[in-house]
Amino acid sequence: MSTEREQFGSRLGVILAIAGSAVGLGNIWRFPYIAGENGGALFIICYVIILFCIGLPILMTELSIGRAAKKSVGYAFETLEPKGTKWHYFKYLIIAGGVLICAYYPVITGNILYYLCGVVDGSLLDKGISAHDQYQDLVVENSYKTVCFSLIAILFCACCSWFGIKKGIETVTKPLMFLLFIFLVVLCGYSLTLDGASKGLELFFVPNFEDMTLKSFLNMFHAALGQVFFTLGVGAGTILAYASYMKKGQSLFNESIIIASLDTIAAILAGVIIFSICTSYSISVGAGPVLVFESMLTIFKEMPGGHLFGSVFFLLLFAAAITSFISMYESTNSFMIDSFNVSRKTAITINTILVGVLILPACFASSFLADVKPFGMDIISFEDFIASNVLLVGGAFIFSLFCFTRYGWGMRRFIRSVNSGEGVKLSRFTIGYIKYAIPMFIFIVFVLGLIV
Ligand code: PFF
Repeated sequence: MSTEREQFGSRLGVILAIAGSAVGLGNIWRFPYIAGENGGALFIICYVIILFCIGLPILMTELSIGRAAKKSVGYAFETLEPKGTKWHYFKYLIIAGGVLICAYYPVITGNILYYLCGVVDGSLLDKGISAHDQYQDLVVENSYKTVCFSLIAILFCACCSWFGIKKGIETVTKPLMFLLFIFLVVLCGYSLTLDGASKGLELFFVPNFEDMTLKSFLNMFHAALGQVFFTLGVGAGTILAYASYMKKGQSLFNESIIIASLDTIAAILAGVIIFSICTSYSISVGAGPVLVFESMLTIFKEMPGGHLFGSVFFLLLFAAAITSFISMYESTNSFMIDSFNVSRKTAITINTILVGVLILPACFASSFLADVKPFGMDIISFEDFIASNVLLVGGAFIFSLFCFTRYGWGMRRFIRSVNSGEGVKLSRFTIGYIKYAIPMFIFIVFVLGLIV
């Protein structure tokens, strides 16, 4: 492939695209609910420490490999690995994580789109039908609606990718991310005016050591580690794909801090919104997957200004989900382009058909396939478990070994690549920590993920 690789048009474009990949359902729905289940404030402290001490170096591995190789995971190992080594075999494992997430993430995104349309036109705010029945109608009785809306979400991403990185992805993700942060701040301000907001803030921000046992601490630690991997979206080659379109101007340590900070701010703002609303309307924050579809919709039906608030909330959720899905989608596209030397348009066409078929089990998870319960989980939970707890963690482990050991790309080249450009540089004192502690921590997450 002799053609020059396309690049993002601006530094802000790259940062917002990568932050768009990181800020997704994981922040707005998963983070508040996991924090609620795992001791609120204590979880948040643990999460922030893990994010910056463990998540950040892993984020840097993907960024540095992508930017140095100028290739997606489809050809990055081949470009950087020492001659004769076989690191490139791992690319299939890594892309498998991204593909598996593509099998259910657009389904949830499609459901959000359905809710967005229904709340905006007011049909879902009908008080005569319960939010529970409306959700059952979507996922059980009329699951073809889930298929239709998921396909719309996929086609939307296909269109963004079709126009390339700068004209397509950057043009769409930049305004969506601005909108997302504006809505987060506006909704946060509004939710703080609700009557029960102070109770929600207390639950979210004041640590509760009373019921803490070793087992609950380990559970919380594992939940925080898993959340960090999922929210940063590391280990699936997604960040690597975006980094391959990056210019060399800035140090990657610098950019990683900005991305991780944006991700954390989004999660905390979302937590404040959800906790304030839930405590104001006496709804449990641990309601699980149906939290946004049933509990929140019930509230929007009741609250004054629920139409506007609900519309903005679902628009926010849709913006978060779609920017993450665009990144996963681009990762699989660029994998095909780099591995099989096909054109972008061919890759998108094949990928769209492939993902369109792969989503079907998740679309019918609560209807025709409700009885299919691998390891006691429904299909979406099972796919999420394998992707997040096994493949993403495995992918991150491989990236860290590749960057930190002399059998792979090696620590010297990794540090040089991270530090090239302007901005905060990674100090040499951190090398020992990164080299030994990070792979060890990833290994712990992996084992804990399988046994807890
Ligand atoms: N970070 C996304 C979220 O928080 O929803 C999820 C995600 C994106 C996972 C990209 C994996 C990935 F490759």
